[in-house]
Amino acid sequence: MKVLLINGSPHENGTTAAGLSEVAAAIEADGIETETLWIGKEPIRGCTACFACVKKPGRCVFDGDAVNEILGRAEGIDGLVIGSPVYWASPNGALLSTLDRVFYAGGALFYGKPGAAVAAARRAGTTATIDALYKYFPINGMPIVPAQYWPMVHGRKGEEAHKDIEGMQVMRLTGHTMAWMIKAFKAADDAGIPRPAPETPRAWTNFIR
Ligand SMILES: Cc1cc2nc3c(=O)[nH]c(=O)nc-3n(C[C@H](O)[C@H](O)[C@H](O)COP(=O)(O)O)c2cc1C
Repeated sequence: MKVLLINGSPHENGTTAAGLSEVAAAIEADGIETETLWIGKEPIRGCTACFACVKKPGRCVFDGDAVNEILGRAEGIDGLVIGSPVYWASPNGALLSTLDRVFYAGGALFYGKPGAAVAAARRAGTTATIDALYKYFPINGMPIVPAQYWPMVHGRKGEEAHKDIEGMQVMRLTGHTMAWMIKAFKAADDAGIPRPAPETPRAWTNFIR
């Protein structure tokens, strides 16, 4: 069993990484492997709505950035954690470009797998950032991992985040709950409790007649 953590910050070892590493340590303490993928600081283009991925799902037509790396790992994971720094009270643009393309090309690869978010900020905009990240989860069949507070850490630099005692507590509970959900879903599968599947054919309505 494995969880993929995405560090959406341009800082490989900044505040977002500090929060993610605490989540990862809790997941690993519960016996589940983790892998962290940093999206880097090279430009990441947005989705151009070319729909090539509709014809060939699971891959974005644009290579050379984190998108196809994430999609290539998606099948082999059991849970996903997305970490973002807060930029103007939102996730940073490069991460949003990444996620728009990942989930349009390969949302089905994440179906049924728990998703968690981590927002890192100096001060404010964390809940708006978490709201934006949570938008990718339930629409792709991903249960959201809860904790005792919204999953945020504060600091301007990584070392400051480790002093955010409450934030770090929330990170650890997020990790432990992620591990528990993965194990609980597996136990349900093993016990023969069927997972609900979407109805087919899928309806697409746009209200215009
Ligand atoms: C373009 C930009 C916008 C930012 N906007 C906010 C903001 O709205 N609220 C806030 O508290 N911090 C804001 N910050 C500060 C970062 O969220 C903060 O330094 C965070 O710890 C960076 O995480 P990182 O080290 O993982 O990159 C902003 C930083 C940048 C570069």
